[in-house]
Amino acid sequence: MYEMGKPELDAIKAVIESGQTFRYRGGEGGWCDKFEAALKKKIGVKYAVTTNSGTSALICALAGVGIGPGDEVIVPAYTFMASAIAVTAVGGIPVIVDIDESLMIDPAAVERAVSRYTKAIVPVHMNGRICNLDAIRKIAKKYNLKIVEDACQAVGGSYKGRRLTSIGDAGAFSFNHFKIISCGEGGGVLTNDMKVYDRALILHDGGAVFRSYADKLKTPFFAGMNFRVSEFQGAILYAQLQRLDRILSNLRKRQAAMTEVLASNSHLRISPNNDPDGDCGCVVSLIFDSTAEAKSFVDRVNSLKVGCGAGRPIDSGRHVYVNWEPILKKQGSHNEKLNPFRWARRKIEYSPDMCASTLDILERTVLIGVPYSATPSECRRMAKRIIG
Ligand SMILES: Cc1ncc(COP(=O)(O)O)c(C=O)c1O
Repeated sequence: MYEMGKPELDAIKAVIESGQTFRYRGGEGGWCDKFEAALKKKIGVKYAVTTNSGTSALICALAGVGIGPGDEVIVPAYTFMASAIAVTAVGGIPVIVDIDESLMIDPAAVERAVSRYTKAIVPVHMNGRICNLDAIRKIAKKYNLKIVEDACQAVGGSYKGRRLTSIGDAGAFSFNHFKIISCGEGGGVLTNDMKVYDRALILHDGGAVFRSYADKLKTPFFAGMNFRVSEFQGAILYAQLQRLDRILSNLRKRQAAMTEVLASNSHLRISPNNDPDGDCGCVVSLIFDSTAEAKSFVDRVNSLKVGCGAGRPIDSGRHVYVNWEPILKKQGSHNEKLNPFRWARRKIEYSPDMCASTLDILERTVLIGVPYSATPSECRRMAKRIIG
């Protein structure tokens, strides 16, 4: 979350004064509907469902494209564990593959991992950065796979001029506290496919069959969950969405100012980027030849206290596959009989060193968080002090 204030307070007040906090049963046409209409327009998709988290949005998207027991879904080794957990939640098997120096899923690793049981790829746009979606789409087309974009960390970002989540078969956003726009906890499923939308809508709302929208659905009902949001979340998100393009523009200006200075130093190398124009601007990513150099750069940036912080993604806990304990131990459910790993159609092996290249890249990469409250000139000055 980068900005929150009076518009969000006014929105909450309006919900309280209306007495209508539920999005259905009287809430139709209210804040959630307004938010979804505006979100679809902004992203350029036909359908959107707001959910209570990015994880539930991913679950709905995966279920929406038809993932079920025994289906393999390719996920990157560097992402929040939720990308893999969403796969097990719908009965699928996460197949974990390497990233490349852009920190995004490596298309060559994806192609190597395709088996006769693979059904989908989850490219994850980490840290507001962008996956090589052309390459992923090519593989998906070749092997007839679905693409579910995990854009939880990259709301509003784009690839070759198209907003993320509008390119794959479905996509997911997170609106939790740490994301670009936020309502504390929340998510969104986006798609151009009516069937995916219907399935996501039914799964997100266990009461779907009783709703006024029920007769519009062309998909047979099945037992869903409760991943709904309230009008409070809808109202806050509607206010947040009005800020999105300005937030992105501010981030990008600051990122560009820092990048220009850092790139001018011949000892520093900016990480490759699949689409610098579509990058949300949340971080500046640098890659070093050795772990020692990356570590000493982090120490330098943090000890200078210039107003921005640096860290290595290898130290980002649950974002690195080696720390996904429930997945690596194949504990895919609360009940062993529901454990999706029982339904795997071939032997799936996980080990801490299976994506050694990812670990090496994460060891040698440094991310500098773009300081949103500083001006671009201040960002430039910070970068100048960093290069010394
Ligand atoms: C890449 C990625 N995927 C999925 C999620 C899950 O989102 P949420 O925390 O809203 O469930 C997150 C959130 O941190 C994330 O960063």
